[in-house]
Amino acid sequence: MRKIIALFFVTSFASLMAADGAFLYKKCIACHGANAQKSALGKSQVISDWSANKMIAALKGYKDGSYGGPMKSLMQGQVGSLSDEDIEAVSNYIVTLK
Ligand code: HEC
Repeated sequence: MRKIIALFFVTSFASLMAADGAFLYKKCIACHGANAQKSALGKSQVISDWSANKMIAALKGYKDGSYGGPMKSLMQGQVGSLSDEDIEAVSNYIVTLK
C-alpha cells in the first residue's frame, strides 16, 4: 500500500513538473493566433508551418538575444522565463497546430 501511495506522488509530481506545450502556448495565442496562423501584431512571420527545430532555434535566440527583428525585445519578454525544456515543449506543440 505504501508503495502505491509513493508511486502516486512520484507520478503526479512528474506530470506537474513536465513542460506542457499546450498550456505554455496559451499566452502566445493573443498575438500568434490559436493555430499560430497569424502574423503577430502584423510583424512576425507566420509560424504554423515552421519546423520544430527552426522554432526552438528562434525562441532560444530571442532568449539569449541572438535572434529577432525590430520587435525582438517583445519576444524576449515572452520567452525569458521559459526553460529550454519549456521552449522545446511549446515548439513541439505549435508544429501540431494546423
Ligand atoms: C504580445 C504579442 C506576442 C506574444 C504574446 C508572443 N509573441 Fe511571438 N512574436 C511577436 C512579434 C511582434 C514577433 C516578431 C518579433 C521580431 O521582430 O523579431 C514574434 C516572433 C515570434 C517568432 C519568430 C517569428 C519571426 O518572425 O521570426 C516565434 C517562433 C514566436 N514569436 C513564438 C512565440 C511563442 C512560442 C510565444 C508564447 C510563448 C509568443 N511568440 C508570444 C509577438 C508576440
